[in-house]
Amino acid sequence: MSKEEKPEIIACLKDVNVVYGNLAALYDINIDILKGDFVGICGPNGSGKTTLLKTIIGLIEPLTGQVALFGQEIRDKIPKEIRFKIGYVPQITEIDRNFPALVRDVVEMGRYAKAGLVKSLTAEDKQKAMDALKLVDMDYMAERPIGHLSGGQQQRVLIAQALAAEAEVLLLDEFTSALDFRMTEEIMELLDFLNHTHGITIVNVGHNLELLRAYCSRMICINKVIAFDGSTKDPELDSAIDRVFH
Ligand SMILES: Nc1ncnc2c1ncn2[C@@H]1O[C@H](COP(=O)(O)OP(=O)(O)O)[C@@H](O)[C@H]1O
Ligand SMILES: [Mg+2]
Repeated sequence: MSKEEKPEIIACLKDVNVVYGNLAALYDINIDILKGDFVGICGPNGSGKTTLLKTIIGLIEPLTGQVALFGQEIRDKIPKEIRFKIGYVPQITEIDRNFPALVRDVVEMGRYAKAGLVKSLTAEDKQKAMDALKLVDMDYMAERPIGHLSGGQQQRVLIAQALAAEAEVLLLDEFTSALDFRMTEEIMELLDFLNHTHGITIVNVGHNLELLRAYCSRMICINKVIAFDGSTKDPELDSAIDRVFH
């Protein structure tokens, strides 16, 4: 990359305020998420972390301020070509053990979402779904029912689903709450791999501060306002964490 070339801005929030009725959830938020970022977001319960992610993906419209994704200002609806670049990875708690879909089907849903539900998948679509499964090391589970997998394995499949839709950024909201420490660490390893070797931008809301600090290069601490936004190596981070959590 030449000196003048700046990394692409994936998401830009400018002077954003979000309210629910008369409850102010986020004040005066200014954030740029850059291509290749590996961001952790932390803050106490009710501090607006989920609201922040939903605002970034256009599920919540701010009362005031602007949100731009991939350089395009977002008004009520995200254009389709941008939507698929953004992979929102839900928590796995909802997958029922008897849910009839196979792992392969779940990942192919990422391709359907991209192709449009009325179209049937081409051989290339199916290959892309399998490639995504390989990337998360779950191709050997392709024919198993999703409900039979462990929590960590299911989480991998959901990441593959977003990758199958060719997401360039993954947003994860406390996927850790359903997993134990070891499984969480394995998913953080996977995110690290996707970030470093595939340039996938990661925005990860988490409550395990130790793991967030070990894997993320940038941390945003919020408590309705941004209390800290900087390197995880910044010595100021400790006092910011103290302030938001106490
Ligand atoms: N749909 C909603 N309607 C009303 N209040 C909400 C809604 N979602 C969240 N809130 C409130 O907004 C605040 C921030 O919530 P949230 O973004 O979920 O925080 P976090 O993810 O950090 O726990 C909390 O006080 C919460 O009760
Ligand atoms: Mg939340």
